[in-house]
Amino acid sequence: MAYHSHRDPYLAADLTFTNDKITWVHDGETLEVMMSWEKPIMAKMAELTVSEGDKVLECGFGMGILSDEIQKRNPGHHTIVESHPQVIVKARAWAVGKSNVKIIEGDWIDLKDVPGRFNAILMDTYCDGDLHRTFNWFCRNKGHHNCKVSWWNFSGGTTSAFMKLNWEDVEFTEVTGLDAPENSYYNRNNYYVPVKTLPRTPATYGVLLSSNISISNTETMHIRKVYGDTVLLVCSDPSNPNLEIQDVSGKSVMFKCKGVYSINDGLLVMTGGNNMIVKRGGTWVDKKANELVVGDMLYKSDNTEVEITKIEFDSSDTVYDMFKVNIDNNYFVNNILIRKGEDHA
Ligand SMILES: C[S@@+](CC[C@H](N)C(=O)[O-])C[C@H]1O[C@@H](n2cnc3c(N)ncnc32)[C@H](O)[C@@H]1O
Repeated sequence: MAYHSHRDPYLAADLTFTNDKITWVHDGETLEVMMSWEKPIMAKMAELTVSEGDKVLECGFGMGILSDEIQKRNPGHHTIVESHPQVIVKARAWAVGKSNVKIIEGDWIDLKDVPGRFNAILMDTYCDGDLHRTFNWFCRNKGHHNCKVSWWNFSGGTTSAFMKLNWEDVEFTEVTGLDAPENSYYNRNNYYVPVKTLPRTPATYGVLLSSNISISNTETMHIRKVYGDTVLLVCSDPSNPNLEIQDVSGKSVMFKCKGVYSINDGLLVMTGGNNMIVKRGGTWVDKKANELVVGDMLYKSDNTEVEITKIEFDSSDTVYDMFKVNIDNNYFVNNILIRKGEDHA
């Protein structure tokens, strides 16, 4: 949890709820958390990001204005995460009878370890020290292919890299004619809704992102091109090989790490805990990458084997973009069989 000077007093504060705003008092000053004049902004945010049937993550319930706008668009699932105890009560009351809504109490950042990805992620929190530090990374791990992300644009403009959370290709849509009474956070009569469409992201487990990945016996594609296709060539048992293509949509996680194993000069680059399946002493056995030894045989998608002749550990500060996939099958990276990752350390 990152530090924001107002965060703890805000969470402990007794909020005042009226028809047109939520306020609290800090150091003798009344501060607005949310106001109803923002409704056209919230409506545009939902319009630009949410399609019927989507899995939506909304961070910060506030007055529920954005929540209503999201609901109008018939999402398949609508998860709302809210941290203030009084707002949580409001959110729970609002959610009664809405079967596609799930309220999660706490900080959005804590969802980082919860499985599941979203088609739209809408961020509108308050006193949030994690936003600029981690939201970009969070979305890469929680967004589906082409996930639409939007957030509060405090800047009033379209150029601040800080406001854009260091993303490129943020698209802005202007909302005009706003009627904001004087307040402590935004006093313009126009606003630019930011939307970032996340790049298509893939699948896999502890293996270097830039590896090639097999999609058929003969064809190899660069992993970045495979993102959109969300398929992997899989094989449950190399001693009785039956290769098939599996859709791995929504089962992928990308992450960064240092300290990786390189096999045969980069044929495979993996975390030490990555699951492998190798032939040792004539038998296919399960091993972690850090248990492999020279002489182990790797299984190739053309039904041949390749011997491990070199294992190196890169202990430098180089940061690698890794990916992992959680499926009930073994799969190929660079035409080499990787063991399914559900019991990955
Ligand atoms: C500006 S309001 C949201 C307004 C909302 N979009 C609406 O349409 O009414 C911000 C909300 O985020 C909540 N919040 C602040 N930090 C949070 C966090 N880290 N995780 C989840 N909710 C948070 C606040 O309690 C507050 O309810």
